[in-house]
Amino acid sequence: MKRIAMIAVMTLAFVGFSEAAGDAQAGQAKAAICSACHGADGNSATPAFPKLAGQGEKYMVKQLMDMKEGKRVVNEMLAFLPALTEQDIADISAFYAAQPTTLNQADPDLVELGKSLYMAGNKETGVTACAACHSPTGAGNETAAFPKLGGQHAAYTALQLRKFALGARHEGAAVAEVRVNDGDTRMMRDVAFRLKDYEIEALASYISGLH
Ligand code: HEC
Ligand code: HEC
Repeated sequence: MKRIAMIAVMTLAFVGFSEAAGDAQAGQAKAAICSACHGADGNSATPAFPKLAGQGEKYMVKQLMDMKEGKRVVNEMLAFLPALTEQDIADISAFYAAQPTTLNQADPDLVELGKSLYMAGNKETGVTACAACHSPTGAGNETAAFPKLGGQHAAYTALQLRKFALGARHEGAAVAEVRVNDGDTRMMRDVAFRLKDYEIEALASYISGLH
C-alpha cells in the first residue's frame, strides 16, 4: 500500500508538462520521415529501432520534447528534431499511439525468470515489480506517461535498461550512452542499476511477447 501511494506521488511530480491536442491523421503524413527507421505503422523491422505502434501518446510527446531539449540524446534522430514543432510532435504521437502493436516471441527458457521479475521484482536486491508502473500486461499507464513495454524488441528494451543503469552509475559518461530523463525521482535509474545482466536479458525477452 505504501509503495502504491509513493508511485502515485511520483506520478504527479513526473507529468508536469502541458500538451497540444494531437491529430492522428495529420500525424500520419508528418511521420513519413520517421518510417524509414520506425516502420510505416510504427512496428519497426529492425530491433535497434524501437516500435512506436501503440505506445502511449503522452509518453511519446515527453520523449520527443526531451530529445528536442537535449535531455535524451539519440544521435540517429538529431537531424530531424529541430524542424519538429510541438504540434508536429503531438500529431505524430497521436498517429503512432493509434496503431496496433505486433508481438515478438519470447525465448521459452527465459520466461520463468522474466515473468517473476516483471510481476514481483527481486526483494533480495531491491528491484521493484515492473508491473506496478508498466501494468501486468505491459500496457503502461497513459495518464502517468509510463511507457507501454509489451511487444517491444528485446534488444531495444535491454539497451534502455543498460542506459538507465549506466546513467545511475556514471553521470559523466557520453550523453548518447546513458539515459537520465526519468525525472528527479530517478524511477528507472533506481530500478535498472539493481538488475544483473542475466536479469536484463530475461526481462527483455519476456517483455517482447507480453500482452
Ligand atoms: C535514422 C533512424 C531514425 C529515424 C529516421 C527516426 N528515429 Fe526515432 N529513434 C531511433 C533510434 C535508434 C531510437 C532509440 C535510440 C536509443 O534510445 O537507444 C529512436 C527512438 C525514438 C523514440 C523513443 C521511443 C521510446 O520508446 O522511448 C521516439 C518517440 C522516436 N524515436 C520518434 C521518432 C520520430 C517521431 C521520428 C520522425 C520525426 C523518428 N523517430 C525518426 C532512430 C530513428
Ligand atoms: C516507479 C515506476 C516504475 C517502475 C517500478 C519501473 N518503471 Fe520502467 N519506466 C518508468 C518511467 C516513468 C519510464 C519513462 C521515463 C522517461 O520518461 O524517459 C520508464 C521507462 C522504461 C523503459 C524505456 C521504455 C522505452 O520505450 O524506451 C523500459 C525498458 C522500462 N521502463 C523497463 C522497466 C522494467 C523492466 C522494470 C522492472 C524491473 C521497470 N521498468 C520498472 C517507471 C517505472
